[in-house]
Amino acid sequence: MTAEFSGIHPTAWVHPLAACLRGETFPGEIGAYSQVGEGIDVDADPQVYFAGAFRLRSHTVLYWGNSIGVDFQTGHHVLIREQNELGASISVGSGSIIEHHTKIGDRVRIHSGVFIPEFTVIEADAWLGPKVTLTNARYPKAPDAKEQLKGPLIKTYAKLGANTTVLPGVTIGAHALVGAGSVVTKDVPDYAVVVGNPGRVINDVRQLAYAEQIQTLNQ
Ligand SMILES: CC(C)(COP(=O)(O)OP(=O)(O)OC[C@H]1O[C@@H](n2cnc3c(N)ncnc32)[C@H](O)[C@@H]1OP(=O)(O)O)[C@@H](O)C(=O)NCCC(=O)NCCS
Repeated sequence: MTAEFSGIHPTAWVHPLAACLRGETFPGEIGAYSQVGEGIDVDADPQVYFAGAFRLRSHTVLYWGNSIGVDFQTGHHVLIREQNELGASISVGSGSIIEHHTKIGDRVRIHSGVFIPEFTVIEADAWLGPKVTLTNARYPKAPDAKEQLKGPLIKTYAKLGANTTVLPGVTIGAHALVGAGSVVTKDVPDYAVVVGNPGRVINDVRQLAYAEQIQTLNQ
C-alpha cells in the first residue's frame, strides 16, 4: 500500500516508488525540504517501509530500501542512506548521518552530529552522545578498503560520551560507558568505564552512583 502521509510539507518530496506502510494507515510527518526515496535503485527493492507513526523534521534526506520501526523521528538536516534496518522508537538527532547497511535496535538514541558508517550494528537501548564518530575503514583508501569495511558493534545499553571515536570493528560492551573525547581502539568489556586516547578502562559502571538503577535494568 502506498503511504498517505498526514503531514507532508508542500516542499517535501517522496519518490512514488519509495514509501510504503506496513499494516494500517498511521500518521507520518515529513518536514519542509525533506526527501524520501533519494537515490532510488529500481532493480532492488526500492521501498521505505514505515511500520508506524514517524516524524521526519525539515531537511531530512532518507534514501530508498530502508525498514523503519514505529515511532521513528529525526531532527533537522539528517541523512540516512539506503538499506538500513532501523528498530522501533529510534531518535536521530540533527545533523547526524547514517550510512547504508546498518542495523540499529529499538529505542537507540542518537544525539546531534553523529556519524554512523556502513555495517555498524547498534543494539537496543544504546545511547550515542553528540558528535560521536564511528569508523569502518582501518586503512582508508587502501586498494581493498571497500572489501575490508568493518563497522563497530555497540552492545545493548552502552553509552558513548560526546566526541567519542570508535575504530573499525571494535565492540563496545553492554552497559559500558565511554567518556567524552575518548578514542576507542580495542574492544571494551561489558560494564566498563573507558576514557582517554587510547581508551583505557578506569572503572566499572556498577561502581558508579547510579549502579542500583543499572541492576534494575538487568532484571
Ligand atoms: C567517563 C566519566 C563518566 C567519568 O566520570 P567519573 O566516574 O565521575 O570520573 P571522574 O570525574 O572522577 O574521573 C576519574 C579520572 O578519569 C579522568 N577522566 C574522566 N573523564 C575523562 C574523559 N572523558 N577523558 C579523559 N579522562 C577522563 C579524570 O580526569 C580522572 O582522572 P584522575 O584520576 O587522574 O584525576 C565522565 O568523565 C564522562 O566523560 N562522561 C561523559 C560526558 C558526556 O559526554 N556526556 C554527553 C552528554 S551531552
